[in-house]
Amino acid sequence: MPAPTLSLSNSKATSLKTDAVVVGVAKGADGVVLASAGHGADEVDKAFKSRLAATLTTLGATGALGEVTKLPSLGNVTAPVVLAVGLGQAPEGGRGRKAQGAYAHETLRRAAGAATRALGGSRTVALALPTGDDPALVGAVAEGALLGAYTFTRYRVASKGTVKDPVGAITVLTGAPRDKTARTALTRAQHVAAAVNLARDWVNAAPVDLPPAAFADAAVAAARAAGVDVEVMDEKALKKGGFGGILAVGQGSSRPPRLVRLTYQGGRGKPHVALVGKGITFDSGGLSLKPSAGMEWMKSDMGGAAAIIAAITAIARLKLPVNVTGYAPMAENMPSGTAQRPSDVLTTYGGKTVEVLNTDAEGRLVLADALVRAGEDDPDLIVDVATLTGAQLVALGSRTAAIMAPDDEVRAAVKRAADEAGEAMWPMPLPDELRPSMDSPVADIANMGDKYGGMLVAGVFLKDFVPDGVRWAHLDIAGPAWNDGTPYGYTPKGGTGHAVRTLVRLAEHVADGGVTR
Ligand code: BES
Ligand code: MN
Ligand code: ZN
Repeated sequence: MPAPTLSLSNSKATSLKTDAVVVGVAKGADGVVLASAGHGADEVDKAFKSRLAATLTTLGATGALGEVTKLPSLGNVTAPVVLAVGLGQAPEGGRGRKAQGAYAHETLRRAAGAATRALGGSRTVALALPTGDDPALVGAVAEGALLGAYTFTRYRVASKGTVKDPVGAITVLTGAPRDKTARTALTRAQHVAAAVNLARDWVNAAPVDLPPAAFADAAVAAARAAGVDVEVMDEKALKKGGFGGILAVGQGSSRPPRLVRLTYQGGRGKPHVALVGKGITFDSGGLSLKPSAGMEWMKSDMGGAAAIIAAITAIARLKLPVNVTGYAPMAENMPSGTAQRPSDVLTTYGGKTVEVLNTDAEGRLVLADALVRAGEDDPDLIVDVATLTGAQLVALGSRTAAIMAPDDEVRAAVKRAADEAGEAMWPMPLPDELRPSMDSPVADIANMGDKYGGMLVAGVFLKDFVPDGVRWAHLDIAGPAWNDGTPYGYTPKGGTGHAVRTLVRLAEHVADGGVTR
């Protein structure tokens, strides 16, 4: 399915030839209030004799964020359907019939996404949400709308008809459709949403169809299309190079591992960020086999690699003045006669040895190789993204990723990027006292440690492989990469593309000279 077309318009919302017009409603003091601080919502309300809010309240609308209520327009406006989407609490309390205030970027993203998701099957949709013609808010509406218009139908054959096509064309109504900043925001939304949706597609792919070699091929195709240089190391090259972590994890599978390296050059002398993403195409646990219940979730174990590759395509399309290298170690963690055993010792890239006490702690093994390799490029900052631990879900729940970084400034920079991008992430520590729990009686380090704080233990393990003096942040996205529940806002069931938007935002800050000083 091609991405929906996206445009800005200041046409009259009441006479648009479109399948649906979307307006926003908020929680008011008594019932919903119309969010009128945008282009078009007021006109639509007038066409309904100023009865929209009252009618919606009668129908049971509350204005809760993401709530959708469809009204037949009955000829009041040209579009056959008016969809009211909830924005949550009105910014100024919501007395009276209308609310004029400004909403948070993320509120508008989620509302726009909930609306386009609910309007699947429509060819065209116009959004009259409360942007106040602010280009950044117009961009947020566009981004949310594109993220909500996602479906994954690759494997639907007989049941194809049960899934409605995503909206074909999205028009964001604004009083200033030719504003240059707004047009730039629109283009940004398109590139960012395309990247998020690409990451979602990869996560949703059945792991039988996405062995390391196929994932690497897909990364090459996506990178080349975005003008990003890409090289793939196959198992022979990995052996020659001494990538013992990636090889050990991959050796149990009949489908050998890969290491993908991406290079985007945004300009000589510009700051350099290295992005590293865990690409376990399926994590059975290996000989330390996982229980069957929930094992299907482990097709999302390449969500970190998907996120960094997709983010780099967006960074390149946006032509950000920053240099980015990406490393995606890809392997399938399987039990077999050739699989690594608990108690095996491997030698990672660069020479450090690891005693493998649990083959299910495989992410840190492939990341160890990739982090050391990334450090050789002498980046100003390394950010790794990984579905690394079940403990992440215990600590922060299924929707909030963890940010770990030894440096307060780096951690704060990632947090700020996540907040601005609208992705839930929260700072977590890397306590030094956890390191001795990974002392091995035979090797330099063991891949298991203290039974408490498993997410932090994994982070502290990775820290051992980050070259001294290089700024680094580790993002554990185990839960947020995958939506096991029902869709909400712009988030579908399944792959979410979590971290893509934060990485793009972070690259923008790095390009502006922040983060790397
Ligand atoms: N891929 C898993 C982590 C994971 C769990 C991701 C749930 C998404 C949802 C990782 O490789 C893993 O198995 N980690 C182990 C580490 C343990 C053996 C030290 C875990 O968290 O149980
Ligand atoms: Mn595992
Ligand atoms: Zn894993």
